[in-house]
Amino acid sequence: MVTGMVLQDSNSLNKHFLPEQFRANFPALNNQSVYLDSAATALKPLAMIDATLEYYMHTTATAQRSLHRDALQVTENVAKARQFVADFIHVNDNKEIIWTRGTTESINLVAQSYARSILKPNDEIIVSELEHHSNLLPWLIVAQQTGANIIKWSTDLDELASLISVRTKIVAVTQMSNVTGFCPDLAAISRITHRNEAILVVDGAQGVVHNAIDVKQLDIDFYAFSAHKLYGPTGLGVLYGKKELLNQMSVWHGGGKMLKTASFEDFQPEDLPYKFEAGTPNIAGIIGFYATLNWLRNWDFKQADRYTEQLANYTKSQLSKLTDIEFYSTNQSPIITFNLKNIHHNDIAILLSEQNIAIRTGELCAQPLMKKLGCHGVVRISLMPYNNQQDVDKFIQAMQDTVAILR
Ligand SMILES: Cc1ncc(COP(=O)(O)O)c(C=O)c1O
Repeated sequence: MVTGMVLQDSNSLNKHFLPEQFRANFPALNNQSVYLDSAATALKPLAMIDATLEYYMHTTATAQRSLHRDALQVTENVAKARQFVADFIHVNDNKEIIWTRGTTESINLVAQSYARSILKPNDEIIVSELEHHSNLLPWLIVAQQTGANIIKWSTDLDELASLISVRTKIVAVTQMSNVTGFCPDLAAISRITHRNEAILVVDGAQGVVHNAIDVKQLDIDFYAFSAHKLYGPTGLGVLYGKKELLNQMSVWHGGGKMLKTASFEDFQPEDLPYKFEAGTPNIAGIIGFYATLNWLRNWDFKQADRYTEQLANYTKSQLSKLTDIEFYSTNQSPIITFNLKNIHHNDIAILLSEQNIAIRTGELCAQPLMKKLGCHGVVRISLMPYNNQQDVDKFIQAMQDTVAILR
């Protein structure tokens, strides 16, 4: 059933969470396979699929440009979506929300538009050892461009306090590791960072899915996340930035709609948020994400998170029965990573795939962390509230069969 183009706000008063009801919203779960790879990308609810289909089937139009009826409606929906995102992370002014292609692009935007203009040789960027390449490479690139140095940090708070100095301009950290599931103490990190007049950049790609975030209360300067990990469409991301920082930043990409005036000699950039949104945005993605966020408000995520935590505990306790298993993830995390002695992680992935079980293996875009953990890759199971005990039992059975073949 298609939902209609004028997207209706759902009533958030009757929140609840019934696992099987929640699961029924995900058409991809109707086949025989078991999906345990949600940290790579989440499955999509019907609400999102319907809204996207409706846009492509009946109301295709551009945003912020044409003046015909559908175009005006699309423009309004894109604006409403921006407000929804602002509400979701507790930001009052939706001009502080920039659409990007994903977490990766959001962090690159900060590195190139903010960091590149303020960093001087021998300035320092403190980056945690847990980071995904998306929150490391943009800093490495800008360090090479400016002569600044990257300082490695374990996420220990005392260590941060001793590393940080007048040379530190940026502290970059994840909200939740995509390898260990560990969630650094953002409140404490924020206090130490700001006491030293540095800027805090948080990668919310995994954390935004499982932990409600209030970027204002935590006093985060820049916060990045991707829609596709939060049940939304691929190719869409968000950068939150404090207005005073965004205003002082130079534009990054040039093109349509990021300018007030242009001539062959010069241009005047648009105001926030448009000055960072050159070119036609991912309209279908934004409309799909709006529907996703609206749909998410129906569910009690405190209950959903408790359910996922129980499922994670169950999974880990079942996995622990396998001989010679080494875990890397923290307890209760929806992300479970491990290796089995003398078995290559990719062999496990291939044999599980033959049994219709989707997991992730490898370096998980975190080579420095793999080195620290002393391995070349891991097996990763990632759980969402749409998974259930049958999924886990099928996975455990398949693991037992796989180990019997490989050992
Ligand atoms: C912690 C973390 N940061 C950043 C990213 C990059 O996200 P995207 O590829 O959507 O930009 C990922 C994706 O796996 C991630 O897990």
